[in-house]
Amino acid sequence: MSARRVAVMHGVNLGALDRRPAEHYGGLTFTALERTIESFARELELEPSFFQSDHEGDFVQALHRAGDHADALLLNPGAWTHYAWALRDAVEVAGLPAVEVHLSAVERREDWRRVSVLADVVVAKVSGLGVDGYRVALARLREELA
Ligand code: DQA
Repeated sequence: MSARRVAVMHGVNLGALDRRPAEHYGGLTFTALERTIESFARELELEPSFFQSDHEGDFVQALHRAGDHADALLLNPGAWTHYAWALRDAVEVAGLPAVEVHLSAVERREDWRRVSVLADVVVAKVSGLGVDGYRVALARLREELA
């Protein structure tokens, strides 16, 4: 497997993870989340890079550039997932295999969280597994890159 660089991209409010409801997000710091994702990726022989922004335009531009340094995308765009159609189009522009991941069980929360603008541009969606969901998502991307 030669292509194994994964851009791990977090969106709005994920940087403040430890100040968000612990029943959904586990009280984890964002730094701890990224460190855990890094070790999952290394176990799977993937090379992660990390990006987080609270600014939709910055996130879109990072998607436009993703192909310069990554072979696949692991995306948790936070609340943008549910309404930011520009993100869906930017994932299409990136043209890389992408998996969507959510720490919380978005299907079992408010109705508006059931919608994902990414549905038709990702190869899989993983939700409700907490941090372990990132391992599942990375394993799925590894299959895609094999
Ligand atoms: C989230 C779920 C979203 O609905 C929410 O807005 C987030 C985090 C998750 O990881 O569970 O910010 O993407």
